[in-house]
Amino acid sequence: MKKVSVIGSGNVGATVALFLAERELADIVLVDIVEGVPQGKGLDMVEAGPICRFDSKVEGTNDYSRIRGSDIIVITAGLPRKKGESRLILQQKNSEIVGQVSRDIAKYAPDSIVIVVTNPVDIMTYHAWKVTGFPNKRVIGQAGVLDSARFAAFIAMELDVSVEDISAMVLGGHGDEMVPLPRYTTVSGIPITELLPAETIKNIAQRTRDGGAEIVGLLKTGSAFYAPGSAVAQMVEAILKDKKRIIPCSVYLNGEYSLMDVYIGVPAKLGSSGVEGIIELKLTQPELTALHDSAKVYKEGIAKL
Ligand SMILES: NC(=O)c1ccc[n+]([C@@H]2O[C@H](COP(=O)([O-])OP(=O)(O)OC[C@H]3O[C@@H](n4cnc5c(N)ncnc54)[C@H](O)[C@@H]3O)[C@@H](O)[C@H]2O)c1
Repeated sequence: MKKVSVIGSGNVGATVALFLAERELADIVLVDIVEGVPQGKGLDMVEAGPICRFDSKVEGTNDYSRIRGSDIIVITAGLPRKKGESRLILQQKNSEIVGQVSRDIAKYAPDSIVIVVTNPVDIMTYHAWKVTGFPNKRVIGQAGVLDSARFAAFIAMELDVSVEDISAMVLGGHGDEMVPLPRYTTVSGIPITELLPAETIKNIAQRTRDGGAEIVGLLKTGSAFYAPGSAVAQMVEAILKDKKRIIPCSVYLNGEYSLMDVYIGVPAKLGSSGVEGIIELKLTQPELTALHDSAKVYKEGIAKL
């Protein structure tokens, strides 16, 4: 079995662990600073094994040295936003947590691939890359899979079609400035621009941008975790199985899309060595401007770090 460690055993971390265990993708180590929580959640998952028919081992611990030998480490440790807050407000507190976690990853699992979930994710991924000192292809942020899934879910609701036939694409940072791309979003290969009026697409794109806030508003405390957890599981699967999937995720840009030294969401090829390529779409001028506007926000965040 491969080994995946999930740092932070809160809503997102525990959901990631359960999805991975159910699919028998890896043995899992759940880490948290709160005593008893990762141990309790881990044991609870192990006890689900006989019912759900999985043999993945799940260990909960407060000891970072248990992450030794991990193939992948998922960072979910940190605060989620509250109603009315932007993800950017979390930067100060979460950068301290992600900094400490990244130092421990570099110490105990220097050969691992790191997937960052903690918000503001594009900035925290850059931070984890800097602190671990890992090659950028081994530090990746999760955002695009989730944002594209939200876009796809809303399109399926509007057209009353199966989500299985929808392939959606959302670029940019994981925030208010994300860039849903209707031209590259299809239903069984048919661009949605041929299936839905422009006004409807505009509304769905806006609901996608506000997708996280919509859930926070309903939950009152805490933010989304089922869709984020499944988004991470999809990335983990692509890497562990060396699938070479083209998945939108937050990756380091070094000139692609005319952007330098920033982590932002673009389509990337995920395989056993992490990011194995970046797809440069031929964007229209308004799409490229939107991507650059999104990157500007994260450049400012990085400068503050
Ligand atoms: N990128 C995305 O698409 C996306 C989606 C959803 C949530 N998030 C982010 O993921 C993060 C976690 O969200 P959540 O809903 O699971 O929050 P949560 O509060 O349920 O869980 C966070 C956990 O992190 C733990 N923690 C804090 N410091 C730690 C440390 N140093 N080491 C280990 N564990 C530590 C806490 O004890 C807690 O159990 C938040 O920052 C949230 O904004 C990102």
